[in-house]
Amino acid sequence: MDLKGVVLAGGTGSRLFPLTKVTNKHLLPVGLAPMIWHPLWKLKQAGIEEILIVTGTEHMGDVVGLMGSGKDFGCRFTYKVQDEAGGIAQALGLAENFAGGGPLCVILGDNIFQDALDAEAAAFRAQGRGARILLKKVADPQRYGVAEVRDGRVVAVEEKPAAPKSSLAVTGIYFYDGAVFDIIRGVRPSGRGELEITDVNNAYISRGELSFGTFRGWWTDAGTFPSLAHANALVAAQAADDVAADVAADDQVPFPHIERKL
Ligand code: G1P
Repeated sequence: MDLKGVVLAGGTGSRLFPLTKVTNKHLLPVGLAPMIWHPLWKLKQAGIEEILIVTGTEHMGDVVGLMGSGKDFGCRFTYKVQDEAGGIAQALGLAENFAGGGPLCVILGDNIFQDALDAEAAAFRAQGRGARILLKKVADPQRYGVAEVRDGRVVAVEEKPAAPKSSLAVTGIYFYDGAVFDIIRGVRPSGRGELEITDVNNAYISRGELSFGTFRGWWTDAGTFPSLAHANALVAAQAADDVAADVAADDQVPFPHIERKL
């Protein structure tokens, strides 16, 4: 069975209030596209076209209105409602029927990054089972899940540690096999009352089945005012570099065939 994609686009977006008072965070602009188009484009470029989008009840109508069946995107979209914001692992739990026992590439809809995903998808396919996460060295690891790497293996992940054991953030791009749903059923809510994806990753570590890759290019999330501004600056700088390097227009924006009037 080949990889399917899951884009998690729920949550209340409280850290971007009032921008998120009447819309979903993932519909806010980053560069020339709605935020969520960036991770969707990465999946599409990696050949992953069967994609589940999970979002809350409040803005599901707008999300479907923006993206429809996926026909215009060369993808097939399925939608699933997350009734209440219960954490990333809870949202992923809703993908069980969609996955049908097969492997998934899961992306948080506010993660914006430069590298292509095809090499990582290939590495995960070759691994055959378990999970694979992607790390990125950051200046402020206490904002993220942080990986402790020893002898070339991730030995633990800590969610937003006050005293991080490394500067390696666990990015919001994850590969999981079909066992992830049993693992999620075993996860208990954290101190902030959420089912944490970090607990899922630690369960794979206990099984000896977690591998990792490292992003070479830039990566950011876009869920706070500073990070949203940063994401826009990175995408704008990338566009300028692409123009200077004569990169084909098709490689410059997500879903370039969808008309944008500049
Ligand atoms: C979430 C995860 C965290 C991860 C981050 C990446 O944090 O819990 O482990 O490093 O996404 O964007 P959140 O942004 O939901 O606080």
